[in-house]
Order: sequence, then C-alpha cells, then structure tokens
Amino acid sequence: MSDRTPIIAGNWKMYKTSSEAKSYVSEFLPLVDGVSDVEIVICPPYTSLADVVHMTQGSNVLVSAQNMHYEDEGAFTGEISASMLTDLGITDVVLGHSERREYFCENDVDLAKKITKALSANLRPILCVGESDEDREAGRTEEKLKGQLIKGLADVSADQLAGMVVAYEPIWAIGTGKTATPQIAQDTIRFIRETLAAEFDAGAAAQVRILYGGSVKPDNIAELMSEDDIDGALVGGASLKASDFAQLVNYK
Ligand code: PGA
Repeated sequence: MSDRTPIIAGNWKMYKTSSEAKSYVSEFLPLVDGVSDVEIVICPPYTSLADVVHMTQGSNVLVSAQNMHYEDEGAFTGEISASMLTDLGITDVVLGHSERREYFCENDVDLAKKITKALSANLRPILCVGESDEDREAGRTEEKLKGQLIKGLADVSADQLAGMVVAYEPIWAIGTGKTATPQIAQDTIRFIRETLAAEFDAGAAAQVRILYGGSVKPDNIAELMSEDDIDGALVGGASLKASDFAQLVNYK
C-alpha cells in the first residue's frame, strides 16, 4: 500500500451550463461531506469555474480548469491564462487531454510551456498521456508514453514532479465504454512510474500521483483502485451525474 492520497477527478468536458453546474454542486457536496481520505476534484468548463469555486469554498472539493494558455496575457483570442484561473481560486489544471491533442493540435512542446507556467503560478498540473488503439496494436505504447513524458516534463524539477499529477488515459478507452483491464492499467502505470524514476528522479516518481482514465464507472473503480500503482481516476462521462460521481468518490 502506498501512502499517496488517492485523487478522484471529474472532467465535465463541454457539458453543463452555469445553472446546471450549480444544481450539480448543491446535490454533490452533501453526498461527499466527510470524505477526507480522497482528494476530490471537479473540472467544469470555464463558464462555471467561478460559481463552482464559490460554492465549494471551505469544502473538501477542489476545482480544476480543463486547459490554459502558457502566456501571461496577450492577443490570444479565446484563451485563458494561469493568473485568470488562480485569481478565481482554481487549484488545478488538466493539460494535454487527448481531446485537446487530437482536435486542437496541442503538441508536447506547447504542453511543456503550459506545465512550466502552471507550476510557476501555483497551479497543480494534471498531465494527460496515453496511446491510441493503433499504437497499442503495433506495440508502440511504451515508446509513445515515454516520448510524451520526456517532452511534456522537459522543464520540470524533481520537487515539482513530486507534487504533480499524471493521468494515464488510453485513447481507446475514453468515452468508449471499453475500460482497460486493471492489469493493463496497472502495468502501464507502473511503466510510467519507472520511466519517471529513470528519466527524472526516483523519489519524485514514488510520490507523483498517477491516475487512470478511460470509462471509469461505479462498477469498475474499486478493482482499478486496488492496484498498487493506480492512485486515482480521471473520470469523464460518469462524473456528469452527481450521484454517480459521489459513488466513485466513495469507492472504498
Ligand atoms: P470517460 O472520459 O470517463 O468518459 O471515458 C475520461 C476522460 O476523458 O478523462
């Protein structure tokens, strides 16, 4: 058993208006009241961040953005900076989600800049990495993950790495209902931890929380969480209903 505190994070993606977000949080908070051995994170869209931070103040729920730009400010229409997030009270930011990489052409070089900026602004990055179906079929999973980690974390110190979160999200499992088996998730996350130890720092690799993401549901979370190297879950679809997400948080 590791002494890494588990993190259960709900990524709402492009779902929920502000009013929907507010009703969700009112329903959700009492359902997870008293949970202290799991870090709970909600990642709403930008338009609900302020409301959700306001409603969760003083609670056991942290609020994360789903993305941010690496510049402090400037002529970047449609983008959001780190200080815009921290000014609201946001603590975390998801970076490099496979949907950002695939549909919005995010690359590892930009991600490295985003991670450095987030860390310098005191935002905790949740860096997503993962292989496609083709990568796995062709035996390229490890090569792909290693490349994403080395490039994305290029400018991160050992201390910074220790406080970060990595989410292993196989693209073939996201939103498909096809969850990785606990064995595949464990083996791949173990590989990520070993790579971080070899390429960066062994102490930091032992401390960094590594989550699994991809069709996590109330009926498969306990099995995933029983694996040694899996420190939590990044959940999409099953985080959209307050009662389901509360069940995930209360997986024990
Ligand atoms: P999913 O999404 O749980 O709907 O598969 C996971 C994610 O994209 O973080």
